[in-house]
Amino acid sequence: MTAIKDINARRVWDSRGKPTVEVDVILENGVMGRALAPAGASRGTREAIDLRDGGAALRGQNIQSALNSVNGPIAASLRGFDAQDQNGADGAILALDPSPLKDTLGGNATVATSLAVLHAAAADAGRPLWAHIAEITGSSPALPLPEIQIFGGGAHAGRRVDIQDFMIMVPGAASFDEVMEITSEVYFAAGDIMQSKGKLAGVADEGGWWPNFSSNEEALETLIQAIEKAGETPGERVVVSLDIAASEFGKDGWYHLALDDRRMDSAEMIEMLSGWLDTYPIVAIEDPLSEDDVAGTIEFTRRFGDRVQIIGDDYLVTNADLVRNAQSQAACNAVLIKVNQAGTVTESFDTFRAAREKGWGTIVSARSGETEDVSISHLATGLGSGQLKVGSFTRSERMVKWNECLRIQDALGSTSFVGGKPLANTWWGGKNNKETAA
Ligand code: PGA
Ligand code: ZN
Repeated sequence: MTAIKDINARRVWDSRGKPTVEVDVILENGVMGRALAPAGASRGTREAIDLRDGGAALRGQNIQSALNSVNGPIAASLRGFDAQDQNGADGAILALDPSPLKDTLGGNATVATSLAVLHAAAADAGRPLWAHIAEITGSSPALPLPEIQIFGGGAHAGRRVDIQDFMIMVPGAASFDEVMEITSEVYFAAGDIMQSKGKLAGVADEGGWWPNFSSNEEALETLIQAIEKAGETPGERVVVSLDIAASEFGKDGWYHLALDDRRMDSAEMIEMLSGWLDTYPIVAIEDPLSEDDVAGTIEFTRRFGDRVQIIGDDYLVTNADLVRNAQSQAACNAVLIKVNQAGTVTESFDTFRAAREKGWGTIVSARSGETEDVSISHLATGLGSGQLKVGSFTRSERMVKWNECLRIQDALGSTSFVGGKPLANTWWGGKNNKETAA
C-alpha cells in the first residue's frame, strides 16, 4: 500500500481557452499522478455535471467551486487512502456526493481526481498507465483503431452543418502508424478539395475542417472524394463513421436539419440515414437519433444493427445501467466511453464491462474541449477497448493523444494493433462484403 499524502487542484486552461481543473495526487513516497478534466459542448442531459461558477467573470465558466471540491472535501476524504485501491478511492468520492449527476462536487472535480489517482498508482507501481489499467481490469492491452474527424460540424462549428462529426476509420491499415499516414493524406486531400470549391472556412473545435457546405450530404460526398484523392478506394482500407449527435437538433420525436431546411419525424430521420448507409461506406453511426427517442433508436438498431456499429454517446452517457437497459431493449450495439460523463474511473470501467458482457463495441472518447492530458490513449489501449475517438488530425490537444499511441506502439509492438480485420458488428470489407452478407 502507498498512501495518498496530498491532493492539490489548480486552475488551468483547455483547448477552447476555458478554465478547467487539473489535479495532482501526491503519495507518501513522493510519487505524483496528474490529470486534467475535459469538457463537452454537445452534452447528454444525464451525464455528470461540469460544475461552473456562473456570474459575469469568464463568461460564467470559472471553476473555483470545482477546485474547492477537490481541495476541500475530496482531499480530506482521500488523504491516507491507498492509491492502489482505485475502487475504494472512487467509492470515497461517490460517498461525498451521492447525487446521480455529481452536482455537489462537480464531475470535472471528480474525473480529474479519479484519473490522477490512477496515474499516481501506475507511477507508484512503476508501470506505464496502459499496463496498469490492463493489470487492474484483467484486460488484454491492444492499440485501438482510431476514429478521426475530417470535418467538424454541429455544436463544434457554429452549427454550420447539422451533423457533428464526419470521420474516417482505417481498419485496413497494418499498424497504428499506417493509420496516421493514411489519415494525414485524407485530411489534407479534403482541405484541398474544399479550398478549390470555396468551401473551406477554417478549423472546428476538434481540429477538423470547418466546412461551408450547402447540404449535409455534400459533406459526405466531399469526404468520399477526399478518400479517393488520397489514393484509396472508399469502403476498402478506409471507411466512414458519423456522429450525428441528433440530440442537438432533435427533440420529442422531431428533427430539424437547419442546413437542409428539413423537418422530419423519427421515421423520416431513419429513412434519411438509411439512404446514407446504402450510398456511402459507413460502418459506424453515433447517436443517430436523439437521447429521448428510445423507440427510434430501437427501430434503427433493429434495421441496421447487423451491419453498422450503432454507438450511444448522449444516449448512454457512459452509464452502466443505461447500457444494460439499452441491451435489454436491443437499442445500440456499442457505447462511447467518456470518463467525465461517468465522473470516475471505476464507473467507466463498470460501463466498459457491461458493454463487453454482451459483445458490444466500446469506443474510448475525448471531448470537444480537451487538454494535453493523454489518459484516454492509455485507457483505450489498457482496456483493449478496440477503438479510440479523439477528434481530428490537427491541434496539439488532439495530436498529443495520437502521438501517445505511437509511443505505446513502440513499447507494445505494432502487432498489438487491432486493425487489419473487420470491425465487430459491421460489414467492413467494402460493398462486396455487404452484398455477400445480404
Ligand atoms: P462533446 O462532443 O465533447 O462536445 O460532447 C463529442 C461527441 O459528441 O462525441
Ligand atoms: Zn457524440
